[in-house]
Amino acid sequence: MFPQSACESPPPANEEYNVFLPRPVRTVERRRDAGNCEWMGLRREVADGRQDNCTAEAHESLRLTFHDAIAISPALEAQGKFGGGGADGSIAIFADIETNFHPNIGLDEIVELQKPFIARHNLSVADFIQFAGAIGASNCAGAPQLAAFVGRKDATQPAPDGLVPEPAIRPILTVWLLTAHTVAAANDVDPTRSGLPFDSTPELWDTQFFVETQLRGTLFPGSGGNQGEVESALPGEIRLQSDHTIARDSRTACEWQSFVGNQTKAQQMFQFVFHDLSILGQDINQLVDCTEVVPIPAPPVGEVHFPAGVWLYGLEVYT
Ligand code: HEM
Repeated sequence: MFPQSACESPPPANEEYNVFLPRPVRTVERRRDAGNCEWMGLRREVADGRQDNCTAEAHESLRLTFHDAIAISPALEAQGKFGGGGADGSIAIFADIETNFHPNIGLDEIVELQKPFIARHNLSVADFIQFAGAIGASNCAGAPQLAAFVGRKDATQPAPDGLVPEPAIRPILTVWLLTAHTVAAANDVDPTRSGLPFDSTPELWDTQFFVETQLRGTLFPGSGGNQGEVESALPGEIRLQSDHTIARDSRTACEWQSFVGNQTKAQQMFQFVFHDLSILGQDINQLVDCTEVVPIPAPPVGEVHFPAGVWLYGLEVYT
């Protein structure tokens, strides 16, 4: 049994407000007309909805959604500077520039892989990136069905460097967003090892990630001492400094713990933040909601557990 967290997160904010930016987003009566969603063929091409397709490419597609969308800064705009266009495809359209930004390391590969799909379909680059991420996640058992909008305007200029991750995100939202690291691995953090997962079940959208990041770190799975890496608790598993810190920071530790064993929360909170993330910088009134095209993921598999050989004494509980 897990020690139950006493933490309660507030319910998602009013859906009429974009959770990332301090400005209202008017809701519209969304058209749910599949006739506007010419994506069925594309969906079959990108993935066939099988849960064993929760592959490295699916993970990378999901990561790409964040790195495209989060590059938008109201602070820069307030200074009269271009602050990035959010979910505008700039990471792929200006890949030569943006994939060289340090936090975007390794994303050049998925950008290249997506290019032929984009070329074959009449979708904006911005739409494709978010759609591919939603489809990628849907291949992972236990994932939520993620929003898929169409009609985004593509970027005409690259985002400035320094916006990923955008430091203005509210701490609790960061926890919700980081649920994505339940289906994730690092290819470029440790130059000697590629594909080191962040939890023991990277093919499942479950809450193991929230357990295992709370365990006391004792080892490096590879060379160790790399920028952004701290000791993990399990052989073959890598831990990001950022995940480690957010799991323990007094502003976020309680929220982090509240995800353990709460599959519904791991689905709903990410579904909620992804909706807003995926349309950052775009006018929702100009978009068509094609979420119905995204397959409903397979139900979760397994139970949250302490990894073999680890018991309560290995848990670092912070409040
Ligand atoms: C505080 C914010 C975040 C930080 C610092 C962060 C950092 C990282 C890093 C360093 C990696 C490893 C990259 C590599 O070496 O290949 C990674 C992987 C990943 N991230 Fe994040 N991330 C953040 C937020 C997010 C969000 C919001 C999402 C989802 C929308 C996300 C999805 C992923 C996925 C799916 C992977 C695995 C990619 C793969 O397996 O190739 N991350 N992240």
